[in-house]
Amino acid sequence: MAKTMPGLVVASSNGRVGITEAVDVLRTGGSALEAVVAGIKLVEANPNDHSVGFSGLPNLLGEVELDASVMVGQGLTAGAVGGLQGFQDAVELARMVMEELPHSLITGEGAARFASEMGMSPVELLTDEASRIWRARLEKGQETGDVSQRRFAEKIGEIVRRVSQDPEKPAPPHGTVNFIARDREGRLAVGVSTSGWAWKYPGRLGDSPIIGAGNYADDRWGAAACTGRGEMAMRCCTAHSVVTFMRCGMSLSEALTTAMQDLRALDDPYASEMNIVAVDRDGGHGAASTTAGKTYIFMDESMESYEEPTRMHVPLVDSPRCA
Ligand code: GLY
Repeated sequence: MAKTMPGLVVASSNGRVGITEAVDVLRTGGSALEAVVAGIKLVEANPNDHSVGFSGLPNLLGEVELDASVMVGQGLTAGAVGGLQGFQDAVELARMVMEELPHSLITGEGAARFASEMGMSPVELLTDEASRIWRARLEKGQETGDVSQRRFAEKIGEIVRRVSQDPEKPAPPHGTVNFIARDREGRLAVGVSTSGWAWKYPGRLGDSPIIGAGNYADDRWGAAACTGRGEMAMRCCTAHSVVTFMRCGMSLSEALTTAMQDLRALDDPYASEMNIVAVDRDGGHGAASTTAGKTYIFMDESMESYEEPTRMHVPLVDSPRCA
């Protein structure tokens, strides 16, 4: 039987704009699922966050493609969307996939069609600022003048390869938001949303919509979610691993450390940052990162504002990219 305690919300640090709203949902008796969706929707609407929802940085063709998922720890129910274009509330749509369809993941045109059927209003996700960042990246080092869409794609492909392989240069911009909530009844829910890696190949899905990779919750053991290079979490089933390690008797911090150390086995020339947030079944929480000094946020119903502790640092020691 789960202990009764104040509702808790844990998030990646870019969840600052949504965490108070998420806790308020718990304060008024809302469920963990309602809390994570409410919190993430505010991050998706934030024009200053170029890694999630509206104003996300686009793929190599200049199209914004959103990935999102939700999972509920009671009954292991889940829903996800991938490569969603033209609609902002990707996490809400992921919840609708879970609740309205006999499926767990809908992608591309099917996701946009479903959003429309659910009555969502279309939104132009590519803002002028995100478009300027994309074009500046594209045109850097290139003579001026009009270039065709194909040339754009070739140029961005070159840039992605060069930037990804040069340890002296940062990886392409990326980011994701994670929210985990534990409500007063001890029910867990996780939500994840992202516009994915900037300049990604069209149709690329990361870990965020893949249940078990970027997102996992099981009320019997705990919940976890990831940000960072999704291809790494997909290959190590990172979120599921954290929960499984707790199931096998590890503490939250042992489970986080072991899941991060598993990433060291990856043969990956593009290896870069990985981050995890996690909550155990009793409401203990923690987070880890391959980069030193990264933070996460948490807030429970008894707190007036969030706290922002530093994550455990577990370097990806075999990679020259480790900070
Ligand atoms: N973790 C988000 C992504 O790789 O797209």
